[in-house]
Amino acid sequence: MTVVVFLGSLIGAAMAIWMPMTAIPQRTAISHSFGALAATLVGIAHFLEAGGTVGHVDMAALGFEVMFGALTITGSLMAFGKLQGLVPSAPITYPLQNATNLSLFALAVVLYIYLIAVPSSALAFFAMVAVGLTVGVLIVLPIGGADMPVVISLLNSYAGLASSATGFVLKNNVLIIAGALDGASGFLLSILMSRAMNRSFTNVLFGAFGSVAEAGPAAGAATDKTVKSISVDDAAVQLAYAGSVIIIPGYGMAVAQAQHQVRELAELIEKRGAEVRFAIHPVAGRMPGHMNVLLAEANVPYDKLVDMEDINADFSHTDVALVIGANDVVNPAARNDRASPIYGMPILNADQAHSVIVLKRSMNPGFAQIENELFYDSKCSLLFGDAKASLTKLVAEVKTA
Ligand code: TAP
Repeated sequence: MTVVVFLGSLIGAAMAIWMPMTAIPQRTAISHSFGALAATLVGIAHFLEAGGTVGHVDMAALGFEVMFGALTITGSLMAFGKLQGLVPSAPITYPLQNATNLSLFALAVVLYIYLIAVPSSALAFFAMVAVGLTVGVLIVLPIGGADMPVVISLLNSYAGLASSATGFVLKNNVLIIAGALDGASGFLLSILMSRAMNRSFTNVLFGAFGSVAEAGPAAGAATDKTVKSISVDDAAVQLAYAGSVIIIPGYGMAVAQAQHQVRELAELIEKRGAEVRFAIHPVAGRMPGHMNVLLAEANVPYDKLVDMEDINADFSHTDVALVIGANDVVNPAARNDRASPIYGMPILNADQAHSVIVLKRSMNPGFAQIENELFYDSKCSLLFGDAKASLTKLVAEVKTA
C-alpha cells in the first residue's frame, strides 16, 4: 500500500514538475480522469466485496459515484486527447447527436434508479458503468475550440461529486467534504466561464458548435487578402512615440515565456511618458488566470492589469494595441460573423485602437482554428517571429529611439 502511494505521488510530482505550463489544461484533464478512475474502481471493489449485500441507501451513493466516475474517466480522456492534439480538436458532430446523448444519459439514470431498487443486480451495475463510459466520450465529441475550458471545469466538478459519493460509501467525512467543495467550485467555475464567454451553459453541453464552425472561414484557406508585416525598427518607433499603449497578452506569450521582456518593454515605453496597461481577457492563454500568473511572475504591477470589461471602451482612444501571442481573444469574427464558431464570445476591442501591432510567428490560427480578420485590417501590422526574440529586439530599439 505504502509503495503504491509513494509511486502515485512520484508520478504526480513528475507531472507537475516537468509538464510545461502551456500543457496545464491537458494535465488538468488527465488528472480528473485519474481521480475519477480511482473513485470508480473503489466503487466497483466495494460492490464486488459486498457480494450483493449493498443496501438501498448505500447503493444510492455507490451508483452515483460509479456513474459520474465512469463518465468523467472517458470525458476527461477525450478532453485530454483534444487538447493534446491526439483527437481532432474541432467539434465532431453527426445527426441526432443531442438526442442520442440525452437518451444514453437517461438510460444511465434509469439503470441507477433500478439499482437503488435492486442493489444486488450486477448486470445493471456494470451496464451502468458501460453506459457512463460511453456517455463520457460522446458528450465531449461535439465540443471544440474555445469551449473546452468550460468542459474541463465541468468534468472537474463531476470528479468532485464522484469523490464525495465515495466518501458516503466509505463513511469518510474528509472525502465527502473535499469532494463536495470540488464539485461545487467546479460547477460554479463552469457557469462563470460560460458567462465570461457569453455562452449558454446548456449550449456548451449540447450545442455542438461544429455545425456552425464549418460555415465560417477555414483557417489557412486560400485568400486574396494581404497582411502587412512590420520591421522591428518601425514597430519600435510606433511604440516609442505613442501616448497610450494597451498590451494584450495571449497564449503565445506563455509559449515564448516572454513575460519578463514584456514588462521591460512596458517600463521603457512608460518612462517615455506613455500610458501603458495590460488588457486581460478571461480565457486568454490556456487556464483561468494564466496571464495574471505570468505577468505577476515578471513583477508587472497588479494595477496595470485591467479586465476586459473595464478596458474595452478605452481602445478607441488608444494609440497602439500591442498583441503578444493572442489570437482568438482579439478576433472580430466573435462580434461580426454569425457563422463563426466563436460568435458571441466577448473579445478585446484591439481592432478599435488607432493602430495594432501583432507579435506571432506565422499565419497559423489560434486555439479555435479559425481565421482572424484583424490581421488583414489596414491599420494592423504583424511582427513575425518568436515573441521573446521580437520583444528583446524591440526593447533594444526602443532604448535607442
Ligand atoms: P490563441 O488563440 O491560442 O492564439 C495563440 C497565438 O499565439 C497563435 O496565433 C500563435 O500563432 C501565437 N504563438 C504561439 N507561440 C508563439 C510564440 N512562441 N511567439 C509568438 N507567438 C506565438 O490564444 P489566445 O488569444 O490567448 O486565446 C486563448 C484560446 O485558448 C481561446 O480560444 C480559449 O478559449 C482557449 N482556451 C483557454 C483556456 C483558459 S481557461 N484560458 C483553456 C483552454 C483553452 P503562431 O503559431 O503563428 O505563432
